[in-house]
Amino acid sequence: MRATLLLAALSAAGAVSAAPAPAPAPPSSCGKKGCADVNPFEGKKLFANPTWAKKLDQTYKAFTAQGDAASAAKIGKVQKVGTFVWVADRAGLANIDAAIASARAEQRKTGKKQIVGLVLYNLPDRDCSAGESAGELSSDTNGLEIYKKEFIKPYAEKVSRAKDLDFAIVLEPDSLGNIVTNMAVEFCAKAAPVYEEGIAYAIANLQYDNVHLYVDAAHGGWLGWDGNLPLAAKEFAKVVALAGAGKNKIRGFATNVSNYNPFNATAEGLPAHFIVDQGRVTVDGARKEWGEWCNVVAGFGQVPTTNTNNTVVDSIVWVKPGGESDGQCGMTGAPKAGAWFDEYVQMLVKNAHPSVFA
Ligand SMILES: *[C@@H]1O[C@H](CO)[C@@H](O)[C@H](O)[C@H]1NC(C)=O
Ligand SMILES: *[C@@H]1O[C@H](CO)[C@@H](O)[C@H](O)[C@H]1NC(C)=O
Ligand SMILES: *[C@@H]1O[C@H](CO)[C@@H](O)[C@H](O)[C@H]1NC(C)=O
Repeated sequence: MRATLLLAALSAAGAVSAAPAPAPAPPSSCGKKGCADVNPFEGKKLFANPTWAKKLDQTYKAFTAQGDAASAAKIGKVQKVGTFVWVADRAGLANIDAAIASARAEQRKTGKKQIVGLVLYNLPDRDCSAGESAGELSSDTNGLEIYKKEFIKPYAEKVSRAKDLDFAIVLEPDSLGNIVTNMAVEFCAKAAPVYEEGIAYAIANLQYDNVHLYVDAAHGGWLGWDGNLPLAAKEFAKVVALAGAGKNKIRGFATNVSNYNPFNATAEGLPAHFIVDQGRVTVDGARKEWGEWCNVVAGFGQVPTTNTNNTVVDSIVWVKPGGESDGQCGMTGAPKAGAWFDEYVQMLVKNAHPSVFA
């Protein structure tokens, strides 16, 4: 099980960062209140994104039209599950305002403290290897400056002002993974320093007590191979150090392993806390190889919980909103990345983990 090795290597990343100056950040949550190692998800509800939930109305109608009342009846449960809100371009910054407004309303209504999950995803030269999720910014046309001034700055302003809420932010899915394994791709080699500077800037500018950063660490089927592990650990340590002493506090890493085993969590330096995306979990045997990533046959996974049976896993989360296509690949009829793919989400409902309907 490669995921075990991946997580162990990430835990060891702190040891790597400890060698060169500057010293690594003190492990997590060191603020005015001291250095308590607090799981930010504990006792909170992961915000259920109404924008995503609304899209599932279509799925409900589709099941009803097919005469599948049993599946249709399950949709209400799915719509209440907490999911991350993707902010994938400058226009998407408005999604943060919408999430804040809804989360506040929910918090008032239920009295339950909300933690809003956000994905920060807009690096210049994005998705350098697969190209299915290329973004709006290019390093050739001042993309890094635009990213800093027009994306990270307003992003940080919005979350830092909403002090009545907590935020868990996943930083730039797949980007550092691409640096580790895809440097033979010319576009990735060119993008690497841009990615590193961009992510370090994001970390440095999102240092607030109500903001909890998880750097995306791809998944065990990608970085979990023996040859990639030490490289991955070094890369993460390098970027965190680049954020600068005193400005490089992260809570941990976001990974997407569909199976995880107890692992050796000896963390030195960098905090080894994880959130694990179970938004979609591949059906056993559906993949011929671990590297397959595009609209794979899957089901909704274990619903978000802090009851992870693992002290270094802060929470199971749903990061990737099920139903949004990975790109025009995988299952036949798949639309472009991000577009709603109702046949796919119908399958996710049918293959869902029992916790969704508990
Ligand atoms: C965990 O790692 C530590 C330090 O690297 C080592 O001493 C210990 O034996 C490991 N434990 C297991 C169960 O692998
Ligand atoms: C999680 O895994 C699924 C299936 O392996 C993949 O399609 C999806 O993109 C991954 N999610 C993230 C956030 O990496
Ligand atoms: C943790 O263990 C309990 C008891 O075995 C189980 O009910 C629960 O589903 C487990 N949590 C996860 C996330 O697997």
